[in-house]
Amino acid sequence: MWVKFGSIFIIIDTIFCEYEHVFTTSVDNTALLELYPEDAKLNGTQLASKYGYKVEEHEVVTEDGYLITIFRLPGKGNGKPLMVLHGVIDSSDTWMLRGNTSIGFDLVNAGFDVWFGNYRGNRYGRKHMYLNPDRHAHFWNYSYHDTGYYDVAATIDYIIENTGESRVKALAQSQGTTVFYVLLSTRPEYNEKLEVLVSLAPVSYVHHASGSAVPILVPLILAFNGVLNLLGQHELLGEKSIPKVMLQFLCYHYVNLCAEIVIYPLSGVSGEQIELEFLRSVMGRYPSASSRKNFVHVSQNRVSKKFSQFDYGRVRNLRVYGSKHPPDYDVSKITAKIALICSKNDGLSSLKDVELLRRQLPNVVEYFVIKNDKWTHADFLWGRGIRKYVMPKILELLNKY
Ligand SMILES: *[C@@H]1O[C@H](CO)[C@@H](O)[C@H](O)[C@H]1NC(C)=O
Ligand SMILES: *[C@@H]1O[C@H](CO)[C@@H](O)[C@H](O)[C@H]1NC(C)=O
Ligand SMILES: *[C@@H]1O[C@H](CO)[C@@H](O)[C@H](O)[C@H]1NC(C)=O
Repeated sequence: MWVKFGSIFIIIDTIFCEYEHVFTTSVDNTALLELYPEDAKLNGTQLASKYGYKVEEHEVVTEDGYLITIFRLPGKGNGKPLMVLHGVIDSSDTWMLRGNTSIGFDLVNAGFDVWFGNYRGNRYGRKHMYLNPDRHAHFWNYSYHDTGYYDVAATIDYIIENTGESRVKALAQSQGTTVFYVLLSTRPEYNEKLEVLVSLAPVSYVHHASGSAVPILVPLILAFNGVLNLLGQHELLGEKSIPKVMLQFLCYHYVNLCAEIVIYPLSGVSGEQIELEFLRSVMGRYPSASSRKNFVHVSQNRVSKKFSQFDYGRVRNLRVYGSKHPPDYDVSKITAKIALICSKNDGLSSLKDVELLRRQLPNVVEYFVIKNDKWTHADFLWGRGIRKYVMPKILELLNKY
């Protein structure tokens, strides 16, 4: 029953409440945020400093003018550069939310020169050289395609330029892996700039995704896309938008319900790995905004059962791509070493979908299923058992390649 309620809540959350766009910019959530634990209120620099890590903020400029803040935790110096990339509607803060035992810090402790990337549109990527995200719809005219093609490319180049190394290693989760696959298949020259990509909960094909909210959300997103466009709703889940504040309210006051109706229906039902008190902290930072077009793109992939570019409809596809259907991402061009780490109970990255990807990738150096049958999508970021179930494999791969 909760699952149904959950789906309904998410629908209301992401769709209906966005429609009055006067509301989306005017919610004052300061008092609510005050209630949250300290870490939920700290930015990347503050989080790293609090736990005793040296941190630098850098600004990456993409070819199409987006300005994205990334965070570097150089550790003791001389480490190999490692780019770490978060997933959908998230930000780099996610890697530092579990205090001293966060993945991000363990990577620094393991001797890497860690660079946390971010996406255009999220709290660290809401800037552009010419466009104003609050005024220009065009700022939000992007999907994960552009995040991969531009943001990831610019971030890799920036790291290479600033470290003097010729290649970087990379670790990504969820849509963070998608955007790497986009880049490596559409701009194959980037394969040479990557030593290895360790993919946690890889996402490319999504038609087997088993989260109970997925089959409800996808048709709704597609159905309401046109209306939301007319209403000028191009950003979803912005910092002070109604859905975001509703989520924060729910997840603070009814954290149990928050898990049942928001997290589990998307990530996979479990509850073993993420303590509710900790989930509270997390939900102060999560989600961070993305574009409507990004949600639409993923939804299209689910319906078409393809990992392909954005579908503008036949007529416009002809103009944009020169074909009636959007081209598939040709993942056979991904010559870089790819490691796939997945789990049986992941609501968004199913083993079947990962298998479709795996069969086409020419250079899979590792395929690893987490040895815990209840491991979920979110556990890859926030699970208390990360040091036991995931970290040894990550470090083995990063040290080997
Ligand atoms: C993070 O917070 C610090 C301290 O308030 C501030 O100086 C810095 O500009 C903030 N960084 C970002 C990227 O928001
Ligand atoms: C963990 O972090 C706290 C700060 O919250 C610090 O006081 C403590 O020394 C840290 N513990 C370890 C083992 O690093
Ligand atoms: C969005 O970008 C695509 C190509 O990237 C372009 O064809 C389309 O006209 C743009 N839409 C808007 C509303 O600017």
